[in-house]
Parts: sequence; C-alpha cells; structure tokens
Amino acid sequence: MSGAAAGPGRSVATAFAPASVGNVAIGFDILGFSVDAIGDRVTARRSAAAGVTIKAIRGVVQDLPLEAAKNTAGRAVIALHDAQPPGFGFELTIDKGIPLASGLGGSAASAVAAVVAANALLPQPRTQLQLLQYAMHGEAVASGSMHVDNIAPSLYGGLVLTVGIDHPRVKQIPVPGAIRAVIVHPHMFLSTRQARAILKGSVEMADFVWQTANLAGFISGCYTNDLDMLRESFEDVVIERQRAALIPGFGEVRRAALSAGALGCSISGAGPTVFAWCLEQHAQAVAKAMVLEFSQHQLQSDHWIIAVEASGARVID
Ligand code: HSE
Repeated sequence: MSGAAAGPGRSVATAFAPASVGNVAIGFDILGFSVDAIGDRVTARRSAAAGVTIKAIRGVVQDLPLEAAKNTAGRAVIALHDAQPPGFGFELTIDKGIPLASGLGGSAASAVAAVVAANALLPQPRTQLQLLQYAMHGEAVASGSMHVDNIAPSLYGGLVLTVGIDHPRVKQIPVPGAIRAVIVHPHMFLSTRQARAILKGSVEMADFVWQTANLAGFISGCYTNDLDMLRESFEDVVIERQRAALIPGFGEVRRAALSAGALGCSISGAGPTVFAWCLEQHAQAVAKAMVLEFSQHQLQSDHWIIAVEASGARVID
C-alpha cells in the first residue's frame, strides 16, 4: 500500500501509523482495530553508515530509549535492515501522538510507522506481510511478547484478524457501517508487561467454550451485519475479569456504557483505555456515561468516537 507506493530512491520519508484497540474483548492477541484519530509519526532518513540510529523522540512521550535495539521503532527497522541490508543506514525521528502505557497500541504504532517510512527509502520495497513481521520485533521489545493484535490493524487499518506468528495470515474483517467505536482513555499508566504478567496460564474448559463461541459469533456477526449476534457475543470471559481490578471503576464504566446503549464494552488491549461499540445514535451518550464514571473514580479522561475504517499506516511526506 502507501509505503510501497511512495517511490524508491527517496532519502527521507515520514509515515503515520494509527493507534489501535487490541483484543476487541474476545480475540486476545489476535484481533484488533485501528483508531485513526490519533497515532505516531516516524521520519526515516538515509544515513551513510549502515545500521539504525534514533535522532530524536518528540511529542506526548519522550522518555523512551534512544538506543535503537531497545526502542520499538528502532528494533523494527533493525529487523527490516538486517533481513536484506540495503547498503545504507536509517536515522529515525519519532513523534509520539499516542500516550504511554495507555492500551492504545503506542509501541506498535511507532514500530509500524518506522518500517513504513524506512520502506519508502528502499529501492525495492518490501511487502506488507514483511513489514508486519519486522514491526513484530519492535512490539516484542516493549511488551516482551510477539503479539500482533496492535501491529496488524495499525499497519493494515480497520478490524483485523491475524492467524499465526511465524507465518502470519492477515484478514481485514468488515464492520457494519452503523457501528461506532467509543474509546475512553483515563489518565493513568498501565504497563502491558504488568498486565500480561498477572494472567493465569490456563483456562477453564467452560470458559474456553464460551470464549470460542463468542469469537466465532462476533466474527460472523461482522460478516453478516447481525447486530444482535454482536451484542450477544461481545463478552470476554477469560482475560477481562483478571485485569478489571487494574483499572479503577472498570466494572461501573462498562455497566454505564451498556446502560447507555452500547452493544459491548471491554478493555482496550492491556488497558487502561476502555472501548465500546454502539450504534451511531448512541455514541455521544455512551461516551458521556463512560467519562462520567471514570470521573467518579477520580480519573479524568480523553475520548474519541470513530467509525472503524480501513485506513492503516501510510507515508504522509
Ligand atoms: N493483546 C495484548 C494484551 C495487547 O492484551 O496483552 C496489549 O498490547
């Protein structure tokens, strides 16, 4: 897509990659959707010396590693470079638009923007699937695991299912046009590593069956525009209950969203951001109810209301 279309031979390119909601309640580590309202930008510049350096980190988060191998954007471009060294190096400038530890896929967006920008400098651009795999290395630096549910939607755009890690297969899932996603980010930090570390290593058989049914119901509801099926299947019975205590007021926020008309509401990725899906006519009321509940738990929040559209990472300059 845009990264490949940007034209070989450039010496500098800037790419934007959107934020994303991981898991989408029922697809832990495999399902996510892009949130184009915010994102990260990375400028890649050719450098004479081989390898990857980070010149600067700006924007809403600046206290991140400048050593490329320890930085999500840097590590992703090292993977791109090392897979097939192009004979020059990359100097990266990262502009963070996504708050740190927010559950909005900030590390994934930096990694994705970086590989899309770097790709625009290559004489022979790599495929989207290769970019996905390079970006996965960046995500692993941040969270300690190679999950794809933020990387894939940030790169491809829209609601995206990814099957497989070593040989990922990516499918963009259609979302009924009447649906709006409400995203509410309470002003607190939650580390993905920490939110992953608390998870149990096994799942009860009954929960496994329920969760599997919900994932299948959710995906089929999207394909068939079946809003009742979406509502019925929009429930995470495995991960959410283990993480709920990490987010003050989560249970009340979720109940408020459902009372205001949401089809479903859950944690965005590892949290603390919470998201809901609803019909367009309920979106303002759902957002208001969620923000109010957080404020009653002494948490100010930002919110966005978006259509889940397939606009992924792209070269912007
Ligand atoms: N699927 C991941 C998780 C998303 O829930 O831990 C966080 O980046």
